[in-house]
Amino acid sequence: MRYLTTDTTKRISKIGLGTWQFGAKEWGYGEPYAAQEAHAIVRRAIDLGITLFDTAEIYGYGRSERILGQALGDDLPSVFVATKILPVLPLAPVVEQRAVASANRLGARHLDLYQMHQPNPVVRDTRAMRGMNALQRVGLVGEVGVSNYSLDRWRAAEAALGSRVLSNQVPYSLVVRDPERELLPYAETQDRVIIAYSPLAQGLLSGRYDASHRPANRVRGANPLFLPENLDRAAGLIAALREVADAHSASPAQIALAWVIRSPAVTAIPGASSVEQLESNVAAADIELTDDEHGALRAAAARFQPVTGRAAMPQLVRSRLQANRVSRGR
Ligand SMILES: NC(=O)c1ccc[n+]([C@@H]2O[C@H](COP(=O)([O-])OP(=O)(O)OC[C@H]3O[C@@H](n4cnc5c(N)ncnc54)[C@H](OP(=O)(O)O)[C@@H]3O)[C@@H](O)[C@H]2O)c1
Repeated sequence: MRYLTTDTTKRISKIGLGTWQFGAKEWGYGEPYAAQEAHAIVRRAIDLGITLFDTAEIYGYGRSERILGQALGDDLPSVFVATKILPVLPLAPVVEQRAVASANRLGARHLDLYQMHQPNPVVRDTRAMRGMNALQRVGLVGEVGVSNYSLDRWRAAEAALGSRVLSNQVPYSLVVRDPERELLPYAETQDRVIIAYSPLAQGLLSGRYDASHRPANRVRGANPLFLPENLDRAAGLIAALREVADAHSASPAQIALAWVIRSPAVTAIPGASSVEQLESNVAAADIELTDDEHGALRAAAARFQPVTGRAAMPQLVRSRLQANRVSRGR
């Protein structure tokens, strides 16, 4: 495993573990996964040097935090635990109370990173940051983070907090490269961290799926990337990943992760549906892409133009109706 060089009290691994999948019905992994596999994934992650574990109060309505805390057990104080508040009412006392509730579910005395899950569209962060500041002063929270923030809003949060907001957790992958415009340069020059979520584009970049073999769950049923037309369009990008993967005796998913964490400011938090996937994702931390490989993947990514937004809506609705018919027919 490799680690960020950012100045934090505990090391942050370049590959972390995302745990939205733990106990969240929308991923459809079922009870055996929540009760056993998730635990095994966490234990193996610790063995392999992962220190960053990401969860949120909203994942499985608290269940992810509980599962993660139980699986970490006595190792909890030595890893870097990150959770998030959904800022529906981002007032200082609410932030403080919700941090305590998250810590209780995790069984933690300290949250290494407490993140605003997304910017509240109508309320500025002034009051929430007052709560974050109080949490830092009493020692319940180490670092404050944000998620899905623009650079302006991230900096405004730092001004309100009066100190650094360590990280911004954003979608970053070969399919979503927006953070490269402003967020990455800021993180690289100011010793901040980009936590890349959905680094495998929710599994699309593994190359496991195509138009005749689509993943069946609510998360990906609602993601236009998994529409048959987009899976067809992604074929060129997957082929480019396979070519680089062959040169490294690796898998397309590993190359996709190696591409994401190339910047020194980035750590990626892929989710995993099995221990094997977790092991494969950890190994990606040691793959070094050449400049040519990095460039070739970027070029292939630029050629992938998925149907998204409004244009994707009719197909998404059709596809959902079809899935409902199939599940009723079973
Ligand atoms: N802050 C936010 O707003 C936000 C939003 C989304 C996610 N997140 C965080 O980011 C984490 C990761 O994002 P994500 O789960 O959306 O997407 P992701 O990590 O890109 O995709 C995870 C999925 O990819 C597949 N996969 C993982 N490793 C693989 C491998 N080695 N080979 C083949 N397939 C593999 C698995 O699905 P299958 O095996 O079923 O194909 C797994 O469930 C989440 O767990 C969560 O902690 C945060």
